[in-house]
Amino acid sequence: MRRTIMRIEDSKVVGALQELGIQLRPGTRLSELTSLGIGGTTDRLLIKNHEAIPDLLNLLDSQGIPHRFLGGGSNLLVGDGELPWVVLQLVSSQPDIVLEGNFAKVDAAADLGRTVTYCAKNDLGGMEGLIGVPGTVGGALRMNAGAYGMQIGTYVREVKLYRSAARKIETLRGDQISFEYRHTSFAPDDMMLAVKLELPSKPYPEILKGIRICNEKRRASQPLGQKSAGCIFKNPPGASSGRMIDELGLKGLNVGDARVSDRHANFFVNAGKASAKDMLALISAVRQRVEKSFGLILEFEVVLWNA
Ligand code: EPU
Repeated sequence: MRRTIMRIEDSKVVGALQELGIQLRPGTRLSELTSLGIGGTTDRLLIKNHEAIPDLLNLLDSQGIPHRFLGGGSNLLVGDGELPWVVLQLVSSQPDIVLEGNFAKVDAAADLGRTVTYCAKNDLGGMEGLIGVPGTVGGALRMNAGAYGMQIGTYVREVKLYRSAARKIETLRGDQISFEYRHTSFAPDDMMLAVKLELPSKPYPEILKGIRICNEKRRASQPLGQKSAGCIFKNPPGASSGRMIDELGLKGLNVGDARVSDRHANFFVNAGKASAKDMLALISAVRQRVEKSFGLILEFEVVLWNA
């Protein structure tokens, strides 16, 4: 299939971006911005000021420049080569976490792990399970990230976002958003900007105990030091994708440097120079084996961009 290359070269567009305070980083290799270390090349637009977003998107649309929103790149499989859209990425404001009583106002670009520990040090708990989940708070919010019996959606009271349908920045109350297993009611083109969380008070030492337990469990069962995008597939209701793949003896199965982790069979790692093509071929082989043996079609947990 022939792919369109998307690069911003028109000097009028470059000038308009400058006026909006948007930084253009031409020719960014997304393999350097994704936890899998996979992904082709495109232009990256860095946004410092949220208020510039509606004008930026109007500009891109009027110029026929497709775009994607990139968070921490930790749950993403991006295609190889020249990519047919530019990526928009938020630059975190400082401070990116502001506490008021039991509320934490957090910038979407803030690192999730840092947010969990910062809140913990201020005696705000609840998110212990999320320690060790890589990525930004915005990404965790969009996917309703969860682990060890908790999910971020439980604590969300307000979300500031760019809503694609209204083409403007709005604030939604937590009860206007549905948070399900690794799924939310946000539209694919909505861009998370900031969140207000309400967290239970807990003494720091107690939260730390919970954090240590989750860290240990994660270290014991997941390939933490390796390049991965976390779990590739969702768990079907009442079943475990990792266990099924393991039972089929597929740990270690590889296509090039794309490999089913020896430690957790639902983690597929880039053991060297894997391409998106390698990773997809591996995913598809595993999916077929699971379907054949268990009669289940596994759904993606990882987000695919042109892969
Ligand atoms: N298991 C195996 N072999 C494996 C992997 C797992 O037999 O290779 C078995 C385990 O022994 C256990 C069961 O399968 O009995 C479930 O495994 P685990 O506790 O590791 O949890 P999981 O269902 O595989 C889910 C989330 C993880 C999250 C953990 C901890 C999904 C798809 N995965 O994994 O989230 O960290 O629970 O709560 O929901 C992610 O979102 O990317 C992710 C990794």
